[in-house]
Amino acid sequence: MRVRAVDLVRLTAAALLVLAANAAAVEHDYGDALRKSILFFEGQRSGRLPPGQRVTWRRDSALHDGAEDGVDLTGGYYDAGDNVKFGFPMAFTATLLAWSIIDFGRNMGPHLNDAVTAVRWATDYLLKATSVPSVVYVQVGDAFRDHSCWERPEDMDTPRTVYKVDSNHPGSDVAGESAAALAAASIVFRSRDPAYSRRLLNRAISVFEYADKYRGAYSTSLRRAVCPFYCDFDGYQDELLWGAAWLHKASRRREYRQYIMRNQDVLGAGDSINEFGDDYLQSFRMRADNFICSVFPGGASHRPQIQYSPGGLLFKQGGSNMQHVTALSFLILTYSNYLSHANHHVTCPGYTATPNQLKMLAKRQVDYILGTNPMGMSYMVGYGERYPRRIHHRGSSLPSVRSHPGRIGCKDGTRYYVSQGPNPNVLVGAVVGGPANLSDAFSDTRQLFQVSEPTTYINAPLLGLLAYFSSHPNLNS
Ligand SMILES: *[C@@H]1O[C@H](CO)[C@@H](O)[C@H](O)[C@H]1NC(C)=O
Repeated sequence: MRVRAVDLVRLTAAALLVLAANAAAVEHDYGDALRKSILFFEGQRSGRLPPGQRVTWRRDSALHDGAEDGVDLTGGYYDAGDNVKFGFPMAFTATLLAWSIIDFGRNMGPHLNDAVTAVRWATDYLLKATSVPSVVYVQVGDAFRDHSCWERPEDMDTPRTVYKVDSNHPGSDVAGESAAALAAASIVFRSRDPAYSRRLLNRAISVFEYADKYRGAYSTSLRRAVCPFYCDFDGYQDELLWGAAWLHKASRRREYRQYIMRNQDVLGAGDSINEFGDDYLQSFRMRADNFICSVFPGGASHRPQIQYSPGGLLFKQGGSNMQHVTALSFLILTYSNYLSHANHHVTCPGYTATPNQLKMLAKRQVDYILGTNPMGMSYMVGYGERYPRRIHHRGSSLPSVRSHPGRIGCKDGTRYYVSQGPNPNVLVGAVVGGPANLSDAFSDTRQLFQVSEPTTYINAPLLGLLAYFSSHPNLNS
């Protein structure tokens, strides 16, 4: 049978209609995903759980954190699937949660209060960690000992060693990041709880002073404890600028703007992927545009470390890829909003990127996470029909205290770690590291922490993204 041109056109049109129908069929429930992404943070809580705790398979844990140093360091979040409290990722998480609310809180609807509570759980802890002047407590728990056990946080009996930076052991990176978190959160609470907001801002100011006065990297001061977990190899300059930028936004004090002007040259030495653009200064606009060109598909040749899988997933080598997907998508979305308001495009070599195209790029990444991908699976636990069942997470994979009140010691947990069975406790809202390479394939394997471990910093930027798309579901290219 001969196929005539007109048939081809019809066939193509029919195929397009089917594709369009399919595209419509996979519209996601961003509001539901937003609710779940916030709920995840309840599952990561350390310390005494409040009466309103909805993740009921978790119980109080680590109630003596800080005792070793005579301070109260209870509370905060476990960063991922282990039971260590790492200050660096906790501060970054708090900043991105706060930023999500500052830019997209108006899109969060009934979930806004829970998002604010998630910020406060982090900042209550950061206030404790910075309560001694010129000291920042940056970690609780010996990470090597913790990682050699597969234990519930409620049973944990590994050393809760306290690590700090001070005037003799500088940590401008972790202190700068903490100052940023406190300053960003002060904006969130400005009208909601003015006294708390002022406390956060004042603390941010003093922590930043410490960070700037005693310059140095905590990876040097505390190398044996913090590396290779959250080692910072890029120097501390970017965190100082990051802290100053948030302090400027929160306080509107000229001194922080001047600080940024005086010190911005060091930015040029950094990797723009690790920079978070500041929207007040013209010179940053150019940097931000360059950043966008470097991550935009087609412009990726300028930055070969960013690639796209055949299924459209942004990919950066190094494990836990979804942290890059959510953070970069968040930046792309926020920048597209700034551009829309300023009526600007980004001019890249050979093409321009409109704000709408940037939003579509961010939306495609979010949709990929939620299940629009070749595997047809959601990377958010508890969202959709298919999602990771064997996440690398101690509390989720061991029987809960409720169902198994008896203690499960360090090595007694191993049989749950190696088990092929699904995790008994569904950590709703957790987004895992995702595909390990450009194949779009995923192995739902607990032992592969690079792909199956959730982290607080994967989820934090996702709150803003999901909030935006929940109120702009019909974005078109
Ligand atoms: C990519 O990841 C998948 C799933 O983990 C794995 O089966 C495959 O071997 C990997 N491919 C390469 C080239 O490493």
